Formats: sequence, C-alpha cells, structure tokens
Amino acid sequence: MNTFSDQPGLKRPVLIDTDPGVDDALALLLAFAMPDIDVKAITTVFGNGPLDMMTHNAAGLLSLFGRTDIPIAAGCSKPRDAELGGDALFVHGPDGIGGNKAVPDTTPELDPRGALHLIADTASAHEGALILVALGPLTNIAAALDHDPDLDLRVRELIIMGGNAFGPGNATPTAEANILNDPEAADIVFGARWTVRMVGLDVTEKLRMPSQQRRELAAQTGPVGRVFDRAVPFYEDFYRNAAGFDGIVLHDPAAMMVLTHPNLFDWQPAPIRVETLGMSRGKTWPSLRNEGWHPPDWSGRPNIQIARTSDKENLLQEMMTLWRQGLVGNHT
Ligand code: RIB
Ligand code: CA
Repeated sequence: MNTFSDQPGLKRPVLIDTDPGVDDALALLLAFAMPDIDVKAITTVFGNGPLDMMTHNAAGLLSLFGRTDIPIAAGCSKPRDAELGGDALFVHGPDGIGGNKAVPDTTPELDPRGALHLIADTASAHEGALILVALGPLTNIAAALDHDPDLDLRVRELIIMGGNAFGPGNATPTAEANILNDPEAADIVFGARWTVRMVGLDVTEKLRMPSQQRRELAAQTGPVGRVFDRAVPFYEDFYRNAAGFDGIVLHDPAAMMVLTHPNLFDWQPAPIRVETLGMSRGKTWPSLRNEGWHPPDWSGRPNIQIARTSDKENLLQEMMTLWRQGLVGNHT
C-alpha cells in the first residue's frame, strides 16, 4: 500500500544499492542528471568486485560528482547462504571501474549506521515514497528485509537490474550475474510484498551504445566526460573481444531509466521463483499462467513487473540527452 502521491515539483527520493562497476557508474550519472530525482543514499554490495573495492568506487563517484553530502554505507561482502564466488573484474577492470583512475582515490567516509540501518532509516524518513534501485546482487535488499520486516510495505517500489526471465544468462548459459551472485537472496526479494520492476537481460542485452557515442561523451568536460573517457574503454574492449561488437551493453542504465521512462518498457506481470540448485542455479523462472492460478512453487507469490521488451532507440536517446546535459545541481 503506497500512500505517497506524485506531487508536482516534489523530487522523488531514491536509494541506490550498487556494485560499481562501469555500468553502475553510468547509471549513477543518469540518476544525478534526472531533475526530479533526489538521491538520498547509496549502499554498496559485493558483486563486480569485492565489497571494499565497490565501496571505494562508489565513494569516489560521489566525490567526482561533488556529492559527498550523500550518505554512503557498505553492505554485505558475501552472498547470504554461500561462499563468495567469482568477480567480474575481467569485464570492469582491475579496479572495478576501468583501471584508469576514473574516480578520485578518496578514503570513503562511510555512514556509521551501515547499509541495513541506512536503508531502514531512509525508508522511514520518506515513508511510502522511497524508491529502491538495486544494481547488484540482492544480498543487501534481502538482509534489509530481515532487519526491517515491513520494509517491503514502506517503500514505493523496488527497481532491479537483474535476471533473465525469457532468455539465456550472461554469467552462465542459464543465469544473469546479479541473481547468480545470490540466488537465495533474490528468491526472498521476489517473494516479498513490494512493487518490483525487474529489468533483466531480456531487455538490457539488446540495449547497446556504439563506441562513436561513447567517444562523443568522453570529450565532455566534468564527471560525465571523465567516466566515459576513463572507465568505459576497458568495458568497451571486453565487449569487442568477447562479443565481437563495437559498443557497450547498458545493463544498469536501463534499470535506472525506469525512474523517468517506465513507458519505454513493455511490462509482463508474473510471479518469479529463482532456481538455487544445480546447473540452472540463478535462473529466474516466471509462471505465465493466465487463468489466475500458479503451480505450488509459485502459488501465493506476488506478481513481479518483468521488462519483456523496450523501445531501445528512444531509451538510448533519452540516456544520451541526460548524459549530455551533465549533472544537475540537485542539492536539496
Ligand atoms: O549482469 C549485469 C549486471 O551484473 C550489472 O548490474 C553489472 O554491473 C553486474 O553487476
Ligand atoms: Ca551492477
């Protein structure tokens, strides 16, 4: 039950849970360029790299953006019920963000409350209005539910980059990286009572920025230019060498665009279970029954709004507009 109504002129409060990560950095640039979005807090999670590296990169991005006023807290360093698996530094660079000093080498001043309390306190401060955006494994989000069992009823919605409902994985043939990094946490998150919008590989694998547009943005001054000039080339090389195409895949930026352009996606409502065993561990399985009933393993679970397709041309165009304008001074 959301009590918050969109009031013209009010900025919408957002908390971003992230494992930066080159595409996370591009998504954060979008969030700070969106005039009606107010980023209230950042929490970090292991994923693309170890937690300390992810936290260093997130704090470095806030410093680069001139937004060290925003509280940042480190969350979980390993999955909920498993040992830490492999990282994705081969995709994102040895420092997790391009390997070319994309962010200032700051010592993060972390919020002493830690991620779980920061999430709960931010939800309380913006009761019914806070939008959670999860760009990494869902470990922090599931742990925040443990810590605050009504969190799912107190936030306005949860937007997730993750999963592969209708197609293959990227981390394995069956699983997308964020979900595979913590399938148990993801299954808990998809079974809770919040409004969830899942932007998975079904959409993001098709959302690509040609390197010519990357070079245009790299020539800009300020934080946008520095990230596109120093963080993105390593990520671009990965896709050229591994996938043989010229450009980058915009996973996390696609999820962030749900904040301002949800109508550029086609949404399929369905309950989701996450496989936790065997070769398909990490696969997100929707139950697409239309007769109003679902098999026992899906029964009683809420519908997740699954992004099935998107208007990728207009999505990329809207992203370019935001990146070209640079960060707006949303100092409140
Ligand atoms: O599978 C892509 C997702 O995994 C993105 O969020 C990327 O940053 C990594 O976290
Ligand atoms: Ca990410």
